[in-house]
Amino acid sequence: MLGGATVLALLVFALLALVYLRPGVGARVRGRDWVVYGGLVMPVVVLTALVGYALFAGERLLAHPDENVPRVAARGEMWVWRFSYPDHPGAGETDVLHIPAGQAVDVLVTSSDVVHSFWVPRLAGKIDAIPGHENVVRIKADRPGAYNGVCAEFCGMGHTDMRFMVVAHDPADYEAFMAGGAQ
Ligand code: CUA
Repeated sequence: MLGGATVLALLVFALLALVYLRPGVGARVRGRDWVVYGGLVMPVVVLTALVGYALFAGERLLAHPDENVPRVAARGEMWVWRFSYPDHPGAGETDVLHIPAGQAVDVLVTSSDVVHSFWVPRLAGKIDAIPGHENVVRIKADRPGAYNGVCAEFCGMGHTDMRFMVVAHDPADYEAFMAGGAQ
C-alpha cells in the first residue's frame, strides 16, 4: 500500500513539476481526457489492484479451521486467563501461555463469566472473549521470548490486573517442554 501510494504521489508531483517548469506541456490533451483517464480510469485500475492485494494478504492472516496450525485454548475468568492445550491434555496453567516461536498458532478464545478481550499487542490484534462462544485469533511470535498480554475489555474491579504472558519457545524444544506438562 505504501509502495503504491508512493508511486502515485511521485507521478502527481512529477506532473505538477512538469506543468510548472514547462507551461503548456499538456495542452494538446483535452481537459475532458485528463478527467476521464487521470481521474477515473487510472484510479479504478490502481485501486482494484491494491484492494485485491489487500484482500489476499488479509485473508492469509485469518484463522482458517482446516489448516494444520497448532491450537491452544484461552478462557477468560474474573480475573485470570486459563490456558489449555488440545494436543496436550495434561498441560495448562493460569496466566502463562506457551507457544512455539516462528510459526502461527490459533488461540481459541472464550470466557466463563463476562466479556473479556484477549490481547497480545506484539503478536496480534484484540479479540473478544465471550461466554458460550468461541473466537479464534491467529498469533505468531517471530523469535523466542516473553510477550505481555492484557485483558482489553473492562470486566470489573480486577480488570487492570488481568494480565498474562505468552512464552514463545524454540520450536526444537517446544514439544519436549509440552510433553513434560508445561508446569
Ligand atoms: Cu477481563 Cu478486563
